[in-house]
Amino acid sequence: MARKQVYLDNAATTPIAPEVVDAMLPILKDYYGNPSSSHAFGRSVRAQVEYARRSIAKHLKATPAEIVFTSGGTEADNMAIRCSLKELNIKHAITTDIEHHAVLDTMESVCSEHSIALSKVRLDEKGYVDIVHLEELLANNERSFVSIMHANNEIGNLIDLDEVSELCTKYNAVFHSDTVQTMAHYTFDFSKTKIDFATCSAHKFHGPKGIGFLYINKNLKIPSLLIGGGQERGLRAGTENVYGIVGLAKAMDLAYEDVAAHEVHVKTLKLHMMDRFESELPNVSFNGDPRGNALYTVLNVALPPTEKAGMLLFNLDINGVGASGGSACSSGAAISSHVLAGIQSDPMRPAVRFSFSRYTTKEEVDYAVDCVLEFYNS
Ligand SMILES: Cc1ncc(COP(=O)(O)O)c(C=O)c1O
Repeated sequence: MARKQVYLDNAATTPIAPEVVDAMLPILKDYYGNPSSSHAFGRSVRAQVEYARRSIAKHLKATPAEIVFTSGGTEADNMAIRCSLKELNIKHAITTDIEHHAVLDTMESVCSEHSIALSKVRLDEKGYVDIVHLEELLANNERSFVSIMHANNEIGNLIDLDEVSELCTKYNAVFHSDTVQTMAHYTFDFSKTKIDFATCSAHKFHGPKGIGFLYINKNLKIPSLLIGGGQERGLRAGTENVYGIVGLAKAMDLAYEDVAAHEVHVKTLKLHMMDRFESELPNVSFNGDPRGNALYTVLNVALPPTEKAGMLLFNLDINGVGASGGSACSSGAAISSHVLAGIQSDPMRPAVRFSFSRYTTKEEVDYAVDCVLEFYNS
């Protein structure tokens, strides 16, 4: 088997689209004014920032004032949680055990600082949120803050954003969803979905790293996380990352030009990988519910137990395949994953997350499967 370079870790980050680089280069070269300066150098750069904001808002059916640029998903999650729990008279917080650490660690730390009780919604064995339990938690507690991710970055499970947001509205709860893995992969209509906060990170959809935003519903008022400047209408201090903002808007334009076709292409690859594993590797299974209500970009394979498990990712890497690991086992050589532990996945099965993008090809998927098969057969 001739060695190839195959990148299948797109849930970690994606390669930047050439069109995005083209959109950013003039900003880096020529638009050097500070967007807060009132002279022409500054005004032309301000125009770029506001054009990008309007374009992003239009895609999401939001208003431009609801988009606050941040350094990425982690900062946006931190801001939504930290600034709300302090300011919005929150008495109780709700999340799940399988959130990204940007949410989980922030919720735990802010709740403990402000003595706010934190509840975790039950999950079923496939990792789906138990909606009945969520409703019980909402009904039995005064004004809750709910943070539940739209799609899980390790196993791909989705929640129904409208269903959860309607429950939150019914019980007067504030609803934040980490939408980092779904923004620009699915369409959103924030004029209809009753969500308070949603987060975005450009590098998950072929944009640049270090830029994202927090969507803040116009009916909510929270303070800035960062202080020391009046940028972003006082909501985020610091000179704007202008080339990042322009790159983010361009990446979103490209994604939404053809979002349905991207989904079909990527989903076909995911299903092809599943079919091949199921027919060629006895005793394989999958974490989450990849044929169910799941992100089309992520496949978490629960491989058969083997004594060589600790060598698997290394072996893929040697063969040029970039994928991500994770195991529920905290003692073995594999890196432990709180998500796989949270769904009680079998710790003896090495887990590999393959994640795809619109640039991924069937040949690349076949090569990665062949590498895994060779590992098991040698
Ligand atoms: C679900 C989720 N939330 C938040 C983040 C953090 O985003 P960023 O890398 O932009 O800080 C990630 C990235 O790994 C993610 O997958």
